[in-house]
Amino acid sequence: MSEKKMGLEARLRDSKALALVRSAEEAAEIIKDGMTIGVSGFTPSGYPKAVPLALAERAKAGEQIKIDLYTGASVGPEIDTALTEAGIIRKRLPYHTNATIRGKINEGEVEYIDMHLSQSTQYVNYGMLNKIDVAIVEGLAVTEEGHIIPTTAVGNAPSFIKNADKVIVEINLKKPMSLEGMSDIVLLDNPPNRKPINICAPQDRIGTPYMECGFDKIAAIVITDMQDKTRPLGEVDDASRRISDNIIKFFNKEVAEGRLTNSLLPLQSGVGSVANAVLYGLCDSEYENLTCYTEVVQDSMLDLLRSGKAVMASTTALSPSPAALEKFLDEVEFFRDKIILRPQEISNNPEVVRRLGVIAMNTAIEADIYGNVNSTHIMGSKMMNGIGGSGDFSRNGAITIFSTPSTAKGGKISSIVPMVSHVDHTEHEVMVLVTEQGYADLRGLSPKERAVKIIENCAHPDFKEELMSYFKRACDASALHTPHILSEALSWHSRFLDTGSMLEE
Ligand code: COA
Repeated sequence: MSEKKMGLEARLRDSKALALVRSAEEAAEIIKDGMTIGVSGFTPSGYPKAVPLALAERAKAGEQIKIDLYTGASVGPEIDTALTEAGIIRKRLPYHTNATIRGKINEGEVEYIDMHLSQSTQYVNYGMLNKIDVAIVEGLAVTEEGHIIPTTAVGNAPSFIKNADKVIVEINLKKPMSLEGMSDIVLLDNPPNRKPINICAPQDRIGTPYMECGFDKIAAIVITDMQDKTRPLGEVDDASRRISDNIIKFFNKEVAEGRLTNSLLPLQSGVGSVANAVLYGLCDSEYENLTCYTEVVQDSMLDLLRSGKAVMASTTALSPSPAALEKFLDEVEFFRDKIILRPQEISNNPEVVRRLGVIAMNTAIEADIYGNVNSTHIMGSKMMNGIGGSGDFSRNGAITIFSTPSTAKGGKISSIVPMVSHVDHTEHEVMVLVTEQGYADLRGLSPKERAVKIIENCAHPDFKEELMSYFKRACDASALHTPHILSEALSWHSRFLDTGSMLEE
């Protein structure tokens, strides 16, 4: 028997599965105009590739086809770029990071719903969104019972499978079978029957290694060998390194004052280069036996696990940079008992995040002098990516940290502003604000006390005087609780419109 055939039998474990094997083009025919499609994948990891590409070809050949597309979070260009360029996507939720679809969202050609990621699952389960017609799910294998073993991301796939009429499975031969057993799948009942989620430590397993499906739902199985197109991470630049140093200074203070131990609390770290750099800082720190309860594992988290600084990570997706992904796939055995992949409803669940006391570390586009944070909109109007899981963690963490470089656009504009142009995270949950200039611990401070601390500790020297002058004039104008001169606070933003192409793609 050829190695490939033996490999396939390990992945399609019943003759019923073998009988369902189709080409990507045949499987894509199942998708019709007007349908709602749910796909696996979270960050560009564990998402289907061959069937979306085949679907895009149909539209390019002239067929009229529009779908509503639900994902776990961002997915790869085989979905967001290819389907957008083919004009297929009518509505998209709950998060993206793709420049092509960003352009169409901001031009109003694609409707976009920016949602808390843990809530996107329950909207589907509670029936608050369209019924899912077809789920397209990447898998390692289909079990004897027709259940699907996830690859490198779980995301919303278990709920999409449960709610879909039909399921198309892409078996990805590039993903090693040694990933089997890393996932821990559990579906929650809807209220009033929901039970407590029995996770009391990041390493607790409460579910199965497969997503329930059954052969009655599987309409086609496509065999692929296309690697995830994960995103390269930027070099750790000076600003990111200084942000990381400032977060560690804050941790040191918490340990010195007895609120944290040398193992901190379970860490959540957001997406992108700054978030990656923050965790790299911990590699060289004195902290040890760290754990993570997070939604995405990037390069620095894998290095923390490799070095033994971190002992385990609970996540919904593995999304290392392309080079780090190759390395990870060669070392899966090492990571098998150190990583748990959970559905995003569990990885981001407010109940668990609050119980474990997660330290939530996410990135802001801008923050205001009172501690409100904008993570999603440039100039209050242009959608960047979306709120992602940042609100799931920041609203419920034991310590909620937001970081941002103190300036953007080459130093032309301040990321600390009088009033944010859009609010994602409010003064009520933002506890610590960090820039490369320093950190402001806002806990226990009134709005006016917060304003002074943020301007002094976080604003760039080029903008400090102007911000302090605004604050003082606002205090003089009114002795109210949160002093503002509204016309000036809002015009602060619009004066930057002519400094660059901030609202253009
Ligand atoms: N004013 C105007 N534009 C700004 C700005 C500001 N204050 N701050 C940043 N920008 C622009 C940058 O110039 C850049 O624009 P460009 O793409 O035209 O160069 C863009 O916003 C992104 O900034 P960048 O510094 O590259 O950000 P990043 O890669 O660190 O991402 C977020 C920052 C906030 C966009 C990103 O973290 C995000 O999407 N967060 C929301 C989701 C989330 O937190 N998920 C985490 C849960 S795991």
